[in-house]
Amino acid sequence: MKLFTSVHDVQNVPALVKEALELKNTPFAFKELGRNKTIGLIFLNPSLRTRLSTQKAALNLGMTPIVMNIDKEGWALETRDGVIMNGTTVEHIREAAGVMGEYCDILGIRSFPGLKDREEDYSEDIFNKFIRFSGKPVVSLESATRHPLQSLADLITIEEHKKVARPKVVLTWAPHVKPLPQAVPNSFAEWMCKAQTEGMIDFVITHPKGYELAEQFTPGAHITYNQDEALAGAEFIYAKNWSSYKDYGKILTEGDGWMMDLEKLKITNAAKVMHCLPVRRDLELGSDILDSEHSLVIKEAGNRVWAAQAVLKNILEEL
Ligand code: CP
Repeated sequence: MKLFTSVHDVQNVPALVKEALELKNTPFAFKELGRNKTIGLIFLNPSLRTRLSTQKAALNLGMTPIVMNIDKEGWALETRDGVIMNGTTVEHIREAAGVMGEYCDILGIRSFPGLKDREEDYSEDIFNKFIRFSGKPVVSLESATRHPLQSLADLITIEEHKKVARPKVVLTWAPHVKPLPQAVPNSFAEWMCKAQTEGMIDFVITHPKGYELAEQFTPGAHITYNQDEALAGAEFIYAKNWSSYKDYGKILTEGDGWMMDLEKLKITNAAKVMHCLPVRRDLELGSDILDSEHSLVIKEAGNRVWAAQAVLKNILEEL
């Protein structure tokens, strides 16, 4: 693997999930693989899980991680081409990414969308410039449109906890007070659609009208506005808020009745409930679920280590 920005960078998804679960059993089996190799983890936005789990994965492989919150600690970054830099930006991404490539063998980048200009966000301009100008393998730590390390951890968690060969997995929209990116639901949908074609799961998406995700992320998914229909018989529920893609970056409804709680689980097949975290309790997801045996959110976050480790191992093997 030379790049990890989406499910499309993975040749064999079931094999990668299996490899991650093997690494979970033998975390230090490849400690020599990353010896004298450096990974730079560059954050343009906040993070808890991605930052810590990717560092731990790198350390388990013998790598040296270096972390930079470039939004707070770096020079103000210019990402546009062809501009005279006589304003507030101090360093161009061409030089910044190039220098990072000199220091690191692998780069991880987190860059959220602005949620103002859909075309700009979905072009993944900043990510593509880091890839181009660093000259090194780049791992997405969440981009404007995708969060593949999260989605791989989600699939690992489903595989680990499933009680039937082909569980019903439901992505349900959840309320929130702020407009959030579509990156997590886009990516989850994309990975689950791939898992569905591999015969691993059946996949359903439910959300209020106006919250349709871009079609490129949902091939083969059953999509319904009826949450009860989606939840019936489900084995896994993935709750997540996102802002509108069509009316880009907007909140269209307060979402009364859309929050998952224990009462809603009665029509499921004793479903396990997932969320990428951070989660706003009793807004996005009921604390009665989060504090119950139905919740997988902590184990899911734990699996972020093995997702990152499997990806880094594959990249290291091709350096
Ligand atoms: N789920 C996730 O990516 O968490 P952080 O934003 O804390 O990294």
